[in-house]
Amino acid sequence: MSTATVSRFVNRAGPVAGPTGKRIETAVLALGYRPNGIARSLVTKTTHTIAFLLPDITNPFFPSLVKGVQLLANERSYVLLLCSTLSDPRKEEEYLRLLQAKQVDGILAVGLVLPRSQIERFTSAGVPLVSLDRDIDYPSAPRVHVNHRKGAQVATQHLLALGHRAIAHVSGPPQLRVSRERLAGYEAALSAARVRRDERLRVTGDFSEDGGYRGVERLLGEAVHFTAVFAANDLSAIGAIAALKAHGRRVPEDVSVVGFDDIHLAAYTSPPLTTIHQPALEMGRCATEILIQAIADGQGRPRSNDRVFEGPLIVRDSTSPLGRG
Ligand code: RIB
Repeated sequence: MSTATVSRFVNRAGPVAGPTGKRIETAVLALGYRPNGIARSLVTKTTHTIAFLLPDITNPFFPSLVKGVQLLANERSYVLLLCSTLSDPRKEEEYLRLLQAKQVDGILAVGLVLPRSQIERFTSAGVPLVSLDRDIDYPSAPRVHVNHRKGAQVATQHLLALGHRAIAHVSGPPQLRVSRERLAGYEAALSAARVRRDERLRVTGDFSEDGGYRGVERLLGEAVHFTAVFAANDLSAIGAIAALKAHGRRVPEDVSVVGFDDIHLAAYTSPPLTTIHQPALEMGRCATEILIQAIADGQGRPRSNDRVFEGPLIVRDSTSPLGRG
């Protein structure tokens, strides 16, 4: 029996006749043989491993992205390493150094805060990088994301169509381009409807429930008149609804609320949340496909351009026409 046949069977890299496979399996068990991944990597120059750097695994939006990445990585027999960076540059640098040492074949990243010069120190030639959702300072990395600006515009247009004009916005973290893209969409919709811009209606959030809660409390505390809120993500919208209820406002009778993401929970909040759906699973798969193609190309840099997905409006019970209270 040839070593090639044994290698094909052990690495499940191709067909091996039943009786031959049975003989190999018996021998492997008798010898207690285990394939040596490191030895194989030295020969194939690949580890069949990809890494996914995420800012915050506690936000329910990200597990949907991970699921899309995981499904395709499994289909293509890649091992997936998840790294939670907390948007901390030191953690990002630590992970990139570790991934370089482990010689991962490719990297997916959501919103690295490290500058290009530092990212380049670790993604030496031959390690392709693909950006998912949020942007990163690395020009050769294609970005797979939803149309953040257009999604925010659609969310705000929905409230305008219901007759609302005093529409507040709880933003995402202002340092993120994603937050600025959604703010721009909100402002563009108001401007197109000739609604006068009122800075008092814009409060800063941080993509958390607490940020949404505090943002609405600030609006109420400053006695700003508003009949609707567009929150930059679903967790902020959930916090906004809690604050409105805590201060005796009914949703949607007194105040309509729209979020962004369409996390699994959005259909189960009270009332169920109107929001912008992010096709997270499809985007995860798409980014992974681009990355694995770049690994196969061996050029060290993906040939793909950015891929932008549409985010449809999902209307539920947290919005209603003005004056329906
Ligand atoms: O909810 C977390 C937010 O950060 C999402 O809207 C997603 O786009 C990510 O960037």
